[in-house]
Amino acid sequence: MGAKVRPKARPRAAAVQGATFASKVVQWQQLHGRHDLPWQKSRDAYRIWLSEIMLQQTQVSTVIPYFQRCLERFPDIKSLAAAAQDDVLALWSGLGYYSRARNLHRAAQQVLAEHGGQIPREFTALIALPGIGRSTAAAIAVFAFGARHAILDGNVKRLFARRFGIAGYPGDAKVMITLWRETERQLPSRNIKSYTQGLMDLGSTICKRTRPRCELCPVASACIARKTDTIKQFPAPRPRKTLPQRHTQMLVLLHAKQVLLEKRAPTGIWGGMWSLPEAAAGVDIVALCKQRFGASVAMQQAMPVLAHGFTHFKLDIAPQRLLISDIAPHAAAPGVSWLPIEDALGAAIPAPVKRILLAIQAD
Ligand code: ADE
Repeated sequence: MGAKVRPKARPRAAAVQGATFASKVVQWQQLHGRHDLPWQKSRDAYRIWLSEIMLQQTQVSTVIPYFQRCLERFPDIKSLAAAAQDDVLALWSGLGYYSRARNLHRAAQQVLAEHGGQIPREFTALIALPGIGRSTAAAIAVFAFGARHAILDGNVKRLFARRFGIAGYPGDAKVMITLWRETERQLPSRNIKSYTQGLMDLGSTICKRTRPRCELCPVASACIARKTDTIKQFPAPRPRKTLPQRHTQMLVLLHAKQVLLEKRAPTGIWGGMWSLPEAAAGVDIVALCKQRFGASVAMQQAMPVLAHGFTHFKLDIAPQRLLISDIAPHAAAPGVSWLPIEDALGAAIPAPVKRILLAIQAD
């Protein structure tokens, strides 16, 4: 009597698909991914942390020179923690999202005070540091410590939305839960670093927002968006809410080849950075210059308006070039500084202020 051979239990479809997805990503990364990024040359948690903070919302090519300058100036967490906030912000000038620099600085001080100067290995301790959210904590844990955690940055959201056909705007809480669940489900048990780097590399170089290069993608054959010819619909865009438009004037006070900068309040937009004084439309600028800075305006000239976008509003900036004939003695106020334009350009100034000063310098 022939024994009945029981067919082996079939693994669940998701598990099979998961292994296939991850192994394709890993294999692709090892052959075609990026291996020479400055922060990949090290397992130093400080470098990895610094790179991951800079890479939040910012592309690799922009980050590289900032990363290198920052490491030269602050080679370890101790030197960063001991720095003045102004020096950290000055190194960040032009990179945008300055709360990242302020949080980085605070986190360095916290690591020194609470973790003996060692970046913690535990996920919960990492995520408790200022500026480190779930995805960044996961990336640091993976790259510095080889831990098994799922990432979900903007590029990976797009890749997963397309590959797994996850509809809806990824900023929406329900959609976000689905995306996280899928990234957790696809995690491989081995090769976590290649897998994680592979997701980042695929997301930024292949599964691009516009004109994705599907012909080069290792997971294209199973991609739901591609199969249904709906790539353009994934990920769904942010529901259109027109951003409020704000207006300001920036005052460029010039005297003896120097420009006046003012330190901004520690919180809010451009918190703690050096900027040009601002005035609302209709304000008497000549009186303002006299009152606040003891400066007499000899000539006023409007410069072209600049448009600057923030996450929550748009800002039109009307710069006013003001030639100052004299400054009252003892007019210096705390948080106000007259600087040669060269020096002002090297200070912690926001990008639009830099554009204005460059235009003045080129004049
Ligand atoms: N984006 C976020 N982290 C990254 C990394 N480590 N390499 C490349 N791109 C990234």
